[in-house]
Amino acid sequence: MEDVIAVSGPSTLNGTVRVPGAKNSVLKLMAATLLAEGESTITNVPNIQDVWIMAELLRRLGCAVDYDVEAASVRIDVPPMPGHQADYDLVRAMRASISVLGPLVARCRRAEVALPGGDAIGSRGLDMHRAGLELMGAEISIDHGYLIASVPEGLSGARHILDFPSVGATENLMMAATLAEGRTVLDNAAREPEITDIAEMLIEMGADISGVGTNTLVINGVPSLRPVTHRVVPDRIVAGTWAFAAAVTGGTITIQDADASALTVVLDKLVQAGCAVTVDTDGFTVKGPERPEPINVSTLPYPGFPTDLQPFVVALNAVSSGSGMVTENVFEARWGFTSELARLGAVVRLDGHHALVQGVPRLSGAPVVANDIRAGAALVIAGLAAEGTTEVRGVDHIDRGYERFMENLRGLGARAVRRRA
Ligand code: UD1
Repeated sequence: MEDVIAVSGPSTLNGTVRVPGAKNSVLKLMAATLLAEGESTITNVPNIQDVWIMAELLRRLGCAVDYDVEAASVRIDVPPMPGHQADYDLVRAMRASISVLGPLVARCRRAEVALPGGDAIGSRGLDMHRAGLELMGAEISIDHGYLIASVPEGLSGARHILDFPSVGATENLMMAATLAEGRTVLDNAAREPEITDIAEMLIEMGADISGVGTNTLVINGVPSLRPVTHRVVPDRIVAGTWAFAAAVTGGTITIQDADASALTVVLDKLVQAGCAVTVDTDGFTVKGPERPEPINVSTLPYPGFPTDLQPFVVALNAVSSGSGMVTENVFEARWGFTSELARLGAVVRLDGHHALVQGVPRLSGAPVVANDIRAGAALVIAGLAAEGTTEVRGVDHIDRGYERFMENLRGLGARAVRRRA
């Protein structure tokens, strides 16, 4: 027995949704609290599965964690010396668990973090995390499935040029460097809005970081940090998801509590697809066309087109009036869901990291399986544009990243149920 989401289409989604705090920010902000002894509070916390996993991980490290779902806040009381081991069961359930690596090495001078699993979207190595910590003086080994980092004398600042602007490596190294002796320069760093959010929290905690929002971060280590209260930035991927829901189903959706400036490239592409986009102070509205024009998209690190919205582009092109080319430059194996989309009648030709998608007038509902968070949401949205019933399995992936997904769908007029099957 497992949960499935069944949607009936074709239907047009209309109405308003509110965007919660960003998954990819809150998990790292929670990890960053480890850097300071005492009680930190994070607000605008989304009620998603991954937050519960991170809360459990911090508890096992000796923190007292009080997650108030109603108030959307998490209070984390960090002991003078946290534990240093992140267990396999949690890291396997959520790859973002590795973001405790940097804070633990910095704070405890030792960390043992299980090698991750998580989304099935590519190899997702840890070599850049490792290389950066080694340059800062840590000794790293792999033992019985754990990455073990040790630096008895404490980390020292170093200059490091990342091979690729990895989000996770930039975050881990930035967090580690806040308590290192001396100056760290991270070049070719990622600059996603969530990284800026983390940097801003670290600065509030007393860290000395400059170059925030650019590809070069300069961090002067300080002896200690203090706990803070910090509000999570809005989730741009959730906002983008609802924007595509309007575009694919031909509806009009107002997306509140969203930051349109973090989605500039995405909104430009939606306009190319024939959507009308209006931005206001509190969010934006997307009005989808009767049938979208195809769009050509290449995913890239921020400010490029986000890989997490790539499945929605494929879904949009699948119902468009022509052919669109989608190029995946971040996660090489993120095409798994295209064979599921093909079960709905989508015409997708894969060639290496390119997918040529030929639009059809109407998809047709079928049972499909989601293998990651965004693929799950994209299959549901494609199902809404399809004739008949689409049943999506693997919905626990959707729970990892979308708060109140069913309520939002139904609030927008979708005929959607979640049931055991
Ligand atoms: C984060 C996001 C994820 C998003 C991705 C890219 C979280 C919890 N997840 O994932 O939603 O899709 O950024 O925007 O924030 N790589 C290596 N070696 C490393 C590190 C990364 O080869 O040491 C590769 C990965 O396999 C991948 C690419 O670099 O191909 C980008 O990965 P990265 O930016 O690190 O993504 P994550 O932080 O895992």
